[in-house]
Amino acid sequence: PKKKRAGFFRWTWRLSKLAAVGGAGYVGYGIWEMRNPDDQPPPDPSKKTLVILGTGWGAVSLLKKLDTENYNVIVISPRNYFLFTPLLPSCTVGTIEHRSIMEPIRNFLRHKKASVKFYEAEANKIDYEKRVIHISDDSDIKGDVHKTEVPFDMLVVGVGAENATFGIPGVREHGLFLKEVGDAQRIRNRIMDCCETATFKDQHPDEIKRLLHMVVVGGGPTGVEFAGELQDFFNSDLKKWIPDITDSFKVTLVEALPNVLPMFSKQLIDYTEKTFKEETITIRTKTMVKRVTEKFIEAESVGPDGKKVLEKIPYGLLVWATGNALRPVVKDLINQLPAQADSRRGLAVNEYLVVKGAENVWAVGDCAVANYAPTAQVAAQEGAWLARMFNQMAKTTEVQAKLGELSLAQEKAPNKEARDKVFDEIKDLQKVLRKVKQINPFEYTHNGSLAYIGSDKAVADIPWFVGNFATGGTLTYFFWRSAYVSMCFSTRNRILVCVDWVKSKVFGRDVSRV
Ligand code: FAD
Ligand code: NAI
Repeated sequence: PKKKRAGFFRWTWRLSKLAAVGGAGYVGYGIWEMRNPDDQPPPDPSKKTLVILGTGWGAVSLLKKLDTENYNVIVISPRNYFLFTPLLPSCTVGTIEHRSIMEPIRNFLRHKKASVKFYEAEANKIDYEKRVIHISDDSDIKGDVHKTEVPFDMLVVGVGAENATFGIPGVREHGLFLKEVGDAQRIRNRIMDCCETATFKDQHPDEIKRLLHMVVVGGGPTGVEFAGELQDFFNSDLKKWIPDITDSFKVTLVEALPNVLPMFSKQLIDYTEKTFKEETITIRTKTMVKRVTEKFIEAESVGPDGKKVLEKIPYGLLVWATGNALRPVVKDLINQLPAQADSRRGLAVNEYLVVKGAENVWAVGDCAVANYAPTAQVAAQEGAWLARMFNQMAKTTEVQAKLGELSLAQEKAPNKEARDKVFDEIKDLQKVLRKVKQINPFEYTHNGSLAYIGSDKAVADIPWFVGNFATGGTLTYFFWRSAYVSMCFSTRNRILVCVDWVKSKVFGRDVSRV
């Protein structure tokens, strides 16, 4: 038996060596392939021009699945990268570095079958009547030409949304948002600036308190996740390196509704509020911010006597996370289409994601209104569905052209035998055509909602058979991490995010201000 056991171990050792070499080879080949893309055929201008606006969740999911050989594809976006937004709150405190969740659009497009044109530009106006888009290069470096027009046959609008302020005075001037990489960088710097300024020599205690009061407005998932990350940063790093701020640092979350995270189930709302209490994050529900100045916000709440109270809350950092608003280019398109007269929250689309009142114009993601929440999940599924539909549409055109050729061939066939042969081919192709023409309308599948709430805890509402499975805590946090790592855009992103997590655990987050 000793000999048998030794033999077993030897074989297991050999097999694991083989598996390790095979695995390393596979990963190595993947990286080599990523770094050395094949040559691409140039865009074919004789094909229909498909213009895609945006490089976010909707547009990129569409591009991922789209067979670019079928169209002359042009992508226009002021951002030449895709951003994995679910991990953006972690970038505000340095748990993750921003470049780890960015994927350059150029790398991605270089791997498509046929090449795709990319213009780093903003679409200022979609002229639906003329079927052209007016674009401008709004980056710092401008060439002689920085404004031009792009004609389209087919258009996909995936420009997302901008931050809602509801016209509240002072928000744009004094508040910071959390939507883009630049926003996360600004927040990170502002946190450190507040801490360093608070410890300036002879600073007055009231001023120290104000500077170290971090106010987050909006108790949706963006506000909650950011508040959780910020408190983590304070607990694990800030108070260690700057002990002077320990007694004055405070995070407050302000929400107009009676509770935070309204889209989560009641038990998870209670769990989040309890966790925040333990973490010493103050939640101010039923409190509506009415005005923002440089040093304080004015908020209205209902006092114990039922009367409305207006109070001034001093702050050092103000993060404004009160949801989405329409982008000007979307508003303008809505105004051009009489069928969109009642559209308030975005472009109304039908079940095929066609913009109502327009032909050959589709909309995906946050700029479209299709009775789903404005989430990455919805945008990604819409984009992927649209790609399948475009691929099928191209196939239909191809089969129809072939059918036309065959009908001509049948007419010219010299004898009955040849005619029958062509007839059979036509019958087969008609079957194919019926199949590819069958496009079911878009249907969203909800895979669940997840949110990080700080102190290594997350909440998750997962659809479970006919009901719902609600869970919160540290185990859910590991689930949150693995779910988001697996959803990252590329292997490169996955590796970088994991390295950042290890780095911030081992060395702590970086507290320098740049
Ligand atoms: P976006 O992803 O915002 O992309 C819009 C694109 O259009 C961008 O490339 C932009 O540069 C471009 N663009 C803008 N203006 C123009 C213009 N004029 N012309 C051309 N291009 C333009 N959802 C989830 O499901 N799960 C989460 O965990 C989650 N976490 C989030 C965390 C944060 C901090 C935020 C802000 C959002 C989060 N979301 C999450 C929501 C999710 O990010 C959005 O629903 C999703 O990004 C919408 O995708 P989209 O393609 O419509 O827009
Ligand atoms: P949101 O719309 O979900 O929440 C905004 C909150 O701000 C609301 O609860 C609203 O009552 C409150 N509010 C508005 N005006 C206010 C005022 N003046 N004073 C105080 N409170 C005010 O917005 P959020 O969190 O930015 O999310 C946008 C979208 O992105 C949502 O669809 C959300 O589901 C999605 N998202 C999902 C995440 C996840 O699944 N983990 C993370 C982040 C965003």
